[in-house]
Amino acid sequence: MQRLLMRGGVPLTGEVQVSGAKNAALPIIAATLLAPGPFRFSNVPVLMDVTTIGNLLERLGATVQREGDRLAVDTTVLHGTEAPYDLVKTMRASVLVLGPLLARMGRARVSLPGGCAIGARPINLHLAGLEKMGARVSIDHGYVEAVADGLTGARIVLDTVTVTGTENLMMAATRAAGTTVIENAAREPEIVDLANLLKAMGAEISGAGTDTITIQGGGELRPAEYRIMPDRIEAGTLAAAAAITQGDVLIRGARAEHLDAVLNKLRETGADVAVQPEGAIRVKGGRRLKSVDVRTAPYPGFPTDMQAQFMALMSISDGLSVITETIFENRFTHVAELRRMGADIKIQGTNAIIKGVSELSGAPVMATDLRASASLVLAGLAARGETEVSRVYHLDRGYESLEKKLENLGARIIRLTS
Ligand code: EPZ
Repeated sequence: MQRLLMRGGVPLTGEVQVSGAKNAALPIIAATLLAPGPFRFSNVPVLMDVTTIGNLLERLGATVQREGDRLAVDTTVLHGTEAPYDLVKTMRASVLVLGPLLARMGRARVSLPGGCAIGARPINLHLAGLEKMGARVSIDHGYVEAVADGLTGARIVLDTVTVTGTENLMMAATRAAGTTVIENAAREPEIVDLANLLKAMGAEISGAGTDTITIQGGGELRPAEYRIMPDRIEAGTLAAAAAITQGDVLIRGARAEHLDAVLNKLRETGADVAVQPEGAIRVKGGRRLKSVDVRTAPYPGFPTDMQAQFMALMSISDGLSVITETIFENRFTHVAELRRMGADIKIQGTNAIIKGVSELSGAPVMATDLRASASLVLAGLAARGETEVSRVYHLDRGYESLEKKLENLGARIIRLTS
């Protein structure tokens, strides 16, 4: 079992390059199922989740070759339409093959993802949207079976903003006859990145990035080349690392406009955040952080994927802060571990009330999900003494060589593989 060992107290300084976005790469790789042929992607992050979806596409008959940050996917021949439980259970985002498979092959059998540490994670809105486009959907033995001899464009109103739900339906709609309108669509930048790839494939899409997306389906789709957008959550996590260690870090490759809510919240804590002309983001800590309240929301609000990281920051702030998690019902699993490091946090329903302490003390802690593990690493960077974060495979799902990036910024951090 791999773990990270760190000794806190070093202000991070220097420059760091952000990798490609996990949550853009996953739907974009799934979208290759929509059109036969060779796709070439660049700025693809080297992550477990990307390997997993590549394995899934190979199970379906595609060929997938990785070379550094480049990924070649050829979906000329597909001989399967099933996403099996053994793969889906390791990564819920496998559900993203449902729409493309159904649209191209006329059928798809995808294991229900099951819950995960942060919540039940239902996919009812994905399924209801596909049914509106003419699919016949049934669930048995833990699998979703969807069949459609041709999808038809429809007006779909999502009663909850869902990122992968919007992505699944947008992909399916590119091969549905006629017009599909998705209302109350998610507005995340990763949706825009996926739409840009689909347009490069010949799809006709307008409104991506707003709450109403219109897709003129049925046109010819062809393979494409595409560069994945930078990972805004990795950038936000690195910015939080600079702030919590009172360091001075230049974050290259991110798009600051994707991070407004996070950067503004960081400024409220007293961190000095400057966006350089070429887009790099400079974050300077410098003094004890002020306590601020945070409420997660769909984009462009404060991202739920930055909530755990911000809780680490607030655990050593100068007063009382309230963090409200509105997206997932169980996304406070990092609290118990932060408490072990001396954090003073009380949970009341969807609110976490954090009373800042002067310093955290290093301790052995356990990662429970991707962003919780990032939160524990941030806490370990600031804590007095040694922190060991176990089950670091959670971190490897969504961060490319995070400990190397932090080490290059001066952190005392190593990966133990015993
Ligand atoms: C995506 O998950 C991201 N994953 C998550 O990132 C992110 O936290 C989440 O969006 C919210 O921003 C990927 O993009 C691969 P949702 P997703 O559907 O699409 C409810 C990370 O750390 N809902 O937007 O699964 C759901 O229960 C991961 O990188 C339904 O009720 O999230 C939740 O309460 C974690 N029915 C809310 O909507 C549905 O059919 C938002 O979920 C679908 C969702």
